[in-house]
Amino acid sequence: MAAMQTYRNIVILTGAGVSAESGIDTFRSAGGLWEQHRVEDVATPEGFARDPDLVLRFYDMRRAAIQTKAPNAAHVALGRLEREWPKRVPGGTVTLVTQNVDDLHERGGSLGVIHMHGEHLTVWCTACDTRHRWTGPLADRPPCPECAVPALRPDVVWFGEVPYRMEEIFAALSEADLFVSIGTSGAVYPAAGFVRTAREIGAQALELNLERSQGSQWFHETRLGPASEIVPAWVEELLGG
Ligand code: OAD
Repeated sequence: MAAMQTYRNIVILTGAGVSAESGIDTFRSAGGLWEQHRVEDVATPEGFARDPDLVLRFYDMRRAAIQTKAPNAAHVALGRLEREWPKRVPGGTVTLVTQNVDDLHERGGSLGVIHMHGEHLTVWCTACDTRHRWTGPLADRPPCPECAVPALRPDVVWFGEVPYRMEEIFAALSEADLFVSIGTSGAVYPAAGFVRTAREIGAQALELNLERSQGSQWFHETRLGPASEIVPAWVEELLGG
């Protein structure tokens, strides 16, 4: 890969692997969430229409669980990179896009996180189309703080729904000279296709993951290991180099 100093605009995509060492289950590992629950039941609009109680209880458990977890060294290192990169490279930008619905990047110090699959700690009122920060349960059908209709659902993008903020993401990718994928299996589009978009405009591509992802062949370089070790080491290299 090119010397680190030659980069200006960095786009980082994270997935469940970056939060694994904080104690949040990934989706596709042995014993992961999609072995314990059927995607069709808990992560589709059809599943929600069929059995809303099941879906609301599932997300209530997940919302409660993430509030007991803490960011790990990978989250903290990415927060540091976002703050320090513009000082090291005048005009340089770091865009952090995550597929994760936890808030560990924010608690690790990242500011402008793009949650393309939504967030556990916000809810969406399907009656008045407003979003609200939410830490408690939804299964007891609380009223919307805005319109009082009990029509709140998790603000999480389900299969068959369009991920959030795609225009912003593609705008950032079109300016990127370094694309970095961290802790994602590369199984879910459109995120899995970002590496090819970035490469089409000439960006270098780096993968940091426990094992090779499904799209590993698209990256110029792959570094394997736990995120809490390899992400801080990469950030140190970038900032120190
Ligand atoms: P996956 O569970 O598919 O993949 C997690 C990746 O993280 C795997 O490649 C693991 O090898 C890697 N990994 C595990 N532990 C790690 C560690 N300690 N350090 C580094 N890497 C580690 O999760 P995602 O790729 O995030 O979408 O899944 C993408 C989307 O599929 C999710 O956002 C979710 C899911 O269905 C929706 O729900 C819409």
